[in-house]
Amino acid sequence: MEDGRRILSSVVASQLDVHGKYGGVVPELASREHLRAITLVTRQAMEQAGCSYSELHAVAATEGPGLVGSLLVGLTYAKAICFSRGLPLIGVNHIEGHIHAVAMDAGNDLQFPAVALVVSGGHTHLFEMREGYLYRLLGKTRDDAAGEAYDKVAKLLGYEYPGGPVLDRLADFGDPRGVRFSKVKMKGNPLDFSFSGLKTAVLRWVEAHAMEEEITARRVLLRETPRPTMEQWIALTPKSTLDLIASFQATVIEELLSRAQAAAEEIGARSIAISGGVACNRGLRTAARRLSCPALFPTPALSTDNAAMIAAAAYPKLQRGESSPMSLRAKASLALAP
Ligand code: KG4
Ligand code: ZN
Repeated sequence: MEDGRRILSSVVASQLDVHGKYGGVVPELASREHLRAITLVTRQAMEQAGCSYSELHAVAATEGPGLVGSLLVGLTYAKAICFSRGLPLIGVNHIEGHIHAVAMDAGNDLQFPAVALVVSGGHTHLFEMREGYLYRLLGKTRDDAAGEAYDKVAKLLGYEYPGGPVLDRLADFGDPRGVRFSKVKMKGNPLDFSFSGLKTAVLRWVEAHAMEEEITARRVLLRETPRPTMEQWIALTPKSTLDLIASFQATVIEELLSRAQAAAEEIGARSIAISGGVACNRGLRTAARRLSCPALFPTPALSTDNAAMIAAAAYPKLQRGESSPMSLRAKASLALAP
């Protein structure tokens, strides 16, 4: 990354083929795969950037939150480069990385104060963001993250992992008003989220509608073909299930955007930054146009996990002369703001 904005190279090593058949990430396999990939990925990134180690000014790595075994691989590798080259190490919060994926692309459109909505497989967080990237937590999920709800519903219905992309595309073919899910009423902080009730409501609907046969057919397809095409999924999905999926998606979008809107009003936001894997969702991107201030999204490639966003988040810290000690530890949980 050059000047915090210009991506010189972006290499992403996907582990979907390793975890896909388990319907979720297996921590031990994840750290082993990180170990296997890190040297190759780093070499490739340096080559693509046409950059030598002597040209680097700093190395950034995610310090948390996340799976410690995987974080440890990246952090240790970064420390080794810093130690051997005498470079500053900059530890970055993964959530701040997602937010910077927007900042990197949006440039001056990101007007402060802003609301940052981070929606991924592990997070559903709303922040107030002020000039200089100062954060205040406004609300977060009390149970499942939005991406996690997608993944669990997809698994329940017999689709692949991760569930977000496949359900997003199937939702196009269903009626979003086909199944009525009740709105979540939060006691306490109205800007908090909850998705476990919606997941249970989908489960109850499935139990009440004799869907075993179609679900089994999809699970069989998944066993035989690790990456089925959309045509194959559509052929195995009746209209009533498409309606269920479209309604599930519409409910998730409504939950996310109604709170983003309320947060924007509360802080007088001039823009809303939406990032994290779920920000790829096409329904969410379209619906966000009705928010009262401009909604900014990263490109889909920068919405899901990537290293460029971590470097982008590190840049303002580097400019302020901040760096992390070599004793920096990987952390399973790490708050971005109180
Ligand atoms: O940010 P990310 O790549 O990894 C985490 O930090 O979690 O997000 C992955 C999550 C998964 O739960 C996946 O199902 C979800 O993002 N996701 C989507 C879409 N694409 C990915 N959810 C809804 N619609 C999508 N199009
Ligand atoms: Zn992420």
